[in-house]
Amino acid sequence: MARVLTGIQSSGRPHLGNILGAVIPAIELSKDPKNECLFFIADLHSLTTLKDGGVRDAYVRAIAATWLAFGFDAEANILWRQSRVPAHTELAWYLNCFTPYPMLANAHSFKDKSAQLEDVNAGLFTYPVLMSADILLYGANWVPVGKDQKQHLEIARDIASSFNRQVGEELLVMPEARIDERIMTIPGTDGRKMSKSYHNYLDIFLPENELKKSVKKIVSDSTPLEAPKNPDTDITFQLFSLIADAAQIEEMRARYLAGGYGYGHAKQELLDIILEKYKEPRRIFDYYMTETAELEAILEKGEARAREAAEPVLSKVRSKLGYR
Ligand code: AMP
Ligand code: TRP
Repeated sequence: MARVLTGIQSSGRPHLGNILGAVIPAIELSKDPKNECLFFIADLHSLTTLKDGGVRDAYVRAIAATWLAFGFDAEANILWRQSRVPAHTELAWYLNCFTPYPMLANAHSFKDKSAQLEDVNAGLFTYPVLMSADILLYGANWVPVGKDQKQHLEIARDIASSFNRQVGEELLVMPEARIDERIMTIPGTDGRKMSKSYHNYLDIFLPENELKKSVKKIVSDSTPLEAPKNPDTDITFQLFSLIADAAQIEEMRARYLAGGYGYGHAKQELLDIILEKYKEPRRIFDYYMTETAELEAILEKGEARAREAAEPVLSKVRSKLGYR
């Protein structure tokens, strides 16, 4: 039995990059009965950059609805909001006192964020400690994350060993990152990595007309309609290939190479396949975004179970440190 744990920050609505790069692979792991999956919404982490509680709440609900829309079984596994389980912040404090300052000062995500943001708060600095607490609190064995989180996982391991060494006992379980190297970086509409911060993302849960507008924005070159086109350098083709099946991909490739097929046609096919392939997830997403009481009940149930699951490690840590 492996404990698999991951979190998504509530700093935006999940986009196609998050879904293909993080949500679907994590749900695959959750389908294996040998795994016990704990997935949470890192709504405390998002406070480092987002201060509006109303906006954050809408993002939290959108993330929960996305997990459910892609088939996460909240009965067999656990889904919860980090802020509803105070053990995360309590353990984070204890771990802060076992974390060498230079380790945080050298973290690249802190260096990058502090160079870009105006509000360089201490929460950004101690972000990896709260993330370590999220993981170590539940004795997680595997943590599926994107490549950008690799250093945060190394920090979690370093903090766990520093803690264990200083208390003289292997109390905290050493977590392992599960970084799927096969998962490519999903390109955004401008060809850079699809990201909230570049405003180049596709939100597959938007109403059809709005989604169509974002698909139309996908950048293409100026090859005329009649001329053959290179599918391998085109963003619309790349996105289509991430969603379609092999036969559909080959068909589109042949159309590009033959000429007489425009980028507008390809974009329409991309839109159609998103609507077709994600019809059911779109329906379930809308359902939970409207039936807010039902979504709330699922989260609250998850939170009660998460509090219980967090108790053994937290009480051992407390007593080891002499807090009664
Ligand atoms: P973020 O939105 O950057 O906090 O990322 C949440 C999760 O989605 C992480 O596991 C990322 O690695 C993954 N992710 C974000 N953007 C992409 C992308 N363009 N391609 C693949 N995975 C992504
Ligand atoms: N930092 C992660 C991200 O931005 C989100 C996160 C917070 C997380 N706590 C976690 C991921 C614990 C895995 C495990 O993507």
